[in-house]
Amino acid sequence: MIQSLSRRTLAPSKPVGTLADDVREGLLKQPMTLPPKYFYDAVGSQLFDAICATPEYYLTRHESALLARHADAIIQHVRPDCLIEFGSGVSRKTRYLLDACPRAEYSPLYVPFDVCADVIDTAGNELMRHYPWLKVLPLVGDYGAGLGNLALGGSRALIVFLGSTLGNFDDESGIEFLHEIRHTMRAHDYLLLGADRVKEPAMLHAAYNDAAGLTAQFNLNVLEVMNRELNANFNLQTFRHYACYNVHAAQIEMYLASAVNQEVAIADLDLEIKFARGDAILTEISRKFTLPSLDNLLQRAGLSRVAHFATPDDAYSLVLARPDHHPGFPRLVK
Ligand code: SAH
Ligand code: TRP
Repeated sequence: MIQSLSRRTLAPSKPVGTLADDVREGLLKQPMTLPPKYFYDAVGSQLFDAICATPEYYLTRHESALLARHADAIIQHVRPDCLIEFGSGVSRKTRYLLDACPRAEYSPLYVPFDVCADVIDTAGNELMRHYPWLKVLPLVGDYGAGLGNLALGGSRALIVFLGSTLGNFDDESGIEFLHEIRHTMRAHDYLLLGADRVKEPAMLHAAYNDAAGLTAQFNLNVLEVMNRELNANFNLQTFRHYACYNVHAAQIEMYLASAVNQEVAIADLDLEIKFARGDAILTEISRKFTLPSLDNLLQRAGLSRVAHFATPDDAYSLVLARPDHHPGFPRLVK
């Protein structure tokens, strides 16, 4: 009989807004913004998984290739007894790391950690079927709500943060988040980070504007989330997905732009929002890195890079980092 896994919830260790708080705050300011975590309801997680398979979205394939090639070296170096993955989603790429464990005679605990309970349930159960030896302890929660209640298991943890999800934080919050990660880490723990690289704008543009329109559906799905959760009346037909690469900021910016003049009611918030044609909500940024900009980020968070694996054309990087042990360990630079 196949058992089903029970998941645990990570309690917040710092105040964090509800959907209602975040929508009120984000849509009442200019420019309007929404936090990206609300993309990922059950439908959003499935759409994201489908985006990863589009011909334009090279990130997943590059990261998979790097993991396939270097997982053994990473596992042998880290010798983990616990793998914890932030924003684990379907945990598909993680399998390269999990496959490398028995080859090195390790059988670590795997802790997938994601805000989307649906995706984590499916992924956890599939992993358990596929790896009978693997202990899986799924964790549901918001990594933006603090890591104070996160206790790393075992004595050597590999913290995995893939998909260039760090790029979805701006500079300040990215450092803050890495710094928090750093503070959960013990001397023998490592962080494995996937990061997309600065490259020709056309390739970046295509990755976030797939021809099948899945990225557009994914972006628009956040309006559906607000309709369902907050009794809003966004008409998805009247908003357009718009993603562009800001060369100076080295980031993709993803918007939902109103195609018409309109007023949207968010009943639960007792709020009416006016959109003029062309008004847009910034729903996501996706930063692109150079090796120096990545090193800078790590260093400001008190981490140092111990290994770097890149695709031959430097399109994508995997970085292995550990806590900085220099005397006078740098504090978070704001
Ligand atoms: N690691 C996977 C998925 C990346 S998409 C990959 O590389 O393909 C980002 C993942 O992070 C999604 O599964 C989403 O549900 C999760 N996520 C987004 N914001 C989060 C948050 N604040 N806390 C926890 N998980 C989050
Ligand atoms: N971490 C992914 C990235 O920056 C997230 C992502 C990919 C995404 N495609 C998206 C987020 C489309 C919103 C919309 O590439």
